[in-house]
Amino acid sequence: MKKISVMNRLKGMNIVVTGAARGIGRVIALMFAEYGANVAFTGRKIDDNFTGLEQKLKTFGGKVKGYVSDASDFEVAQKTATEIVKDFGSIDVLINNAGITRDNLILRMSEKDWDDIMNVNLKSVFNWTKAVIRPMMKARKGSIINMSSVVGTGGNAGQSNYAASKAGIIGFTKSIAKELGSRNIRCNAIAPGFIETEMTKKLPQNVIDEWLAKIPLKRTGTPEDVANACLFLASDLSSYITGQVLTVDGGMTI
Ligand code: NAI
Repeated sequence: MKKISVMNRLKGMNIVVTGAARGIGRVIALMFAEYGANVAFTGRKIDDNFTGLEQKLKTFGGKVKGYVSDASDFEVAQKTATEIVKDFGSIDVLINNAGITRDNLILRMSEKDWDDIMNVNLKSVFNWTKAVIRPMMKARKGSIINMSSVVGTGGNAGQSNYAASKAGIIGFTKSIAKELGSRNIRCNAIAPGFIETEMTKKLPQNVIDEWLAKIPLKRTGTPEDVANACLFLASDLSSYITGQVLTVDGGMTI
């Protein structure tokens, strides 16, 4: 069998990453571009993060474009995906990364805290999956990667809304894998543990220390750790893997 380097497996692929202006999404976009993929990314608004990422991605030489697109809005997601297909020709990989937290104990959690989380974290995954499946079916291939979380399986006090949205993503991922496997469209989830980004910067040090004590690899995760898992699930190195949840947590949930 002819050996193909990992680098060449991603070259020329068209990748869409939602919510990529910062954090894990930003590093995913950069790593795919570094490996020769063409990158379409979305963000809620044009700001320094958005334009900075677009400029940096362009230095890798592939096709690149940022789209202002609220992932929680169904119509906007459909319209953006149509634009991306027009600009890039096809969509090979979708990474549903956009996500937010609205942490609170259930006693204090408002209906808005619940609805915002469901719309941005869970409905966005439905919106974008709907938006890409037709072009993927036409191409007879595709890989969809959904960003869940270890709290989606284990739960977390103060995050019942977030945990429910991330658990919902897992059920959705497995269902789509069953529905679209015959079309050669794979759908997997990644469950990151404690990854250092703006999202986790908000946490008090004692909470961080408690998480750290539970991690066998004795360090917090980096966005690169998560992006590496995306490279694998996007490429044909994982061509017989679908409907799975790949945990990237340094062993925290063993
Ligand atoms: P972050 O807060 O740094 O980045 C999230 C990105 O999503 C931001 O660029 C934000 O603008 C974008 N976004 C939010 N709402 C959006 C919307 N409606 N439409 C489009 N974009 C939107 O967070 P981080 O840490 O990079 O998280 C990325 C993903 O990984 C999220 O889904 C998060 O739940 C998940 N995750 C993160 C973990 C961590 O420890 N940081 C652990 C487990 C999962």
